[in-house]
Amino acid sequence: MILTYTTEELKQKIIDLKKRLSVTVVAHFYQRDEVFEMGDITGDSLELARRTMADDKKFVVFCGVGFMGQSVKILSPEKRVLMPKVACCAMARMIDSLYFDESIAYLEKHGIKAENILPITYINSNADVKAKVGKMGGMVCTSSNAKMIIEKALSEGKKILFVPDRCLGQNIANMMGLKSCVIGDDTDPNEADIICYNGFCAVHQLFTVDDIEFYRNKYPGILIAVHPECDPAICAKADFVGSTSQLIKYITELPEDQKVAVGTEFNMVNRLRAKNTYVLSSTKPECPTMNETTLEDLYLTLKSIEDGNPINEIEVDEETAYWAKIALDRMLAL
Ligand code: 13P
Ligand code: SF4
Repeated sequence: MILTYTTEELKQKIIDLKKRLSVTVVAHFYQRDEVFEMGDITGDSLELARRTMADDKKFVVFCGVGFMGQSVKILSPEKRVLMPKVACCAMARMIDSLYFDESIAYLEKHGIKAENILPITYINSNADVKAKVGKMGGMVCTSSNAKMIIEKALSEGKKILFVPDRCLGQNIANMMGLKSCVIGDDTDPNEADIICYNGFCAVHQLFTVDDIEFYRNKYPGILIAVHPECDPAICAKADFVGSTSQLIKYITELPEDQKVAVGTEFNMVNRLRAKNTYVLSSTKPECPTMNETTLEDLYLTLKSIEDGNPINEIEVDEETAYWAKIALDRMLAL
């Protein structure tokens, strides 16, 4: 549908609809500015899951990527969760339950029994993968709690299979002085504490060592702050590595005249601090799937609730939701 409203008109219509409906609009930090502005709850993936669970409105309109809306539905099945665009995170799409089973088979082929494997899935995965992980006694993590979750998992004395982000898995392993490998590389998985699936975020792969050197040469004294989805070679050279909310805290607390180049998604970096904050790349690191959601989509989704015919509703089948919730709850309990 093509709408002829201006941005300001659309914003006003959205505000009016929100007043009339029992609805909460949730928006991830990576959303376009005009969509982000409309959010009643904003944050990173962990904050959004927690705060939306505590919210009492019947409808949740979730502006983010598919796995985030799914997580809200799994944690709060009584809510009706709609997504203006059911955009699937490219990293989450790199693994499904079949690839998960193949990864277990790969480890078994190397002599590691299934009962000695503890799987951990980054929240950037679809419900079928979370369910597989839940069934095997594993749990979910986000970039803000991955280290704590891995510490807990290690205490069970098993091999950790970390899916789908090899960079996050390897970065945490390096941070903790553990050995890691990637499925399919030359390393014997028996030698590694953390065995990573070979998935990655294309947006966070844009940052290079050359970018870091460029900024350090151009602005001596500049700090480099990056997300742990960046390649381990980048994280090793950075001054600070942190999740979305940890990056925000770090950067906003810097003295005003301190320059910082940031390696994470563009919309968020652009919103952070007007002065002395740089994007650590010559290519604009926009997440294509996060950017799919427009103000028009948000308006049409809210309008569909008012018209009694809600669109793009998230559903997760009972069996999958049951096991995925177990994996999510184990994380939230920590
Ligand atoms: P957060 O868990 O920090 O919100 O990040 C999600 C994500 O997709 C990062 O690329
Ligand atoms: Fe997925 Fe990367 Fe986009 Fe995050 S930035 S939602 S990991 S594609």
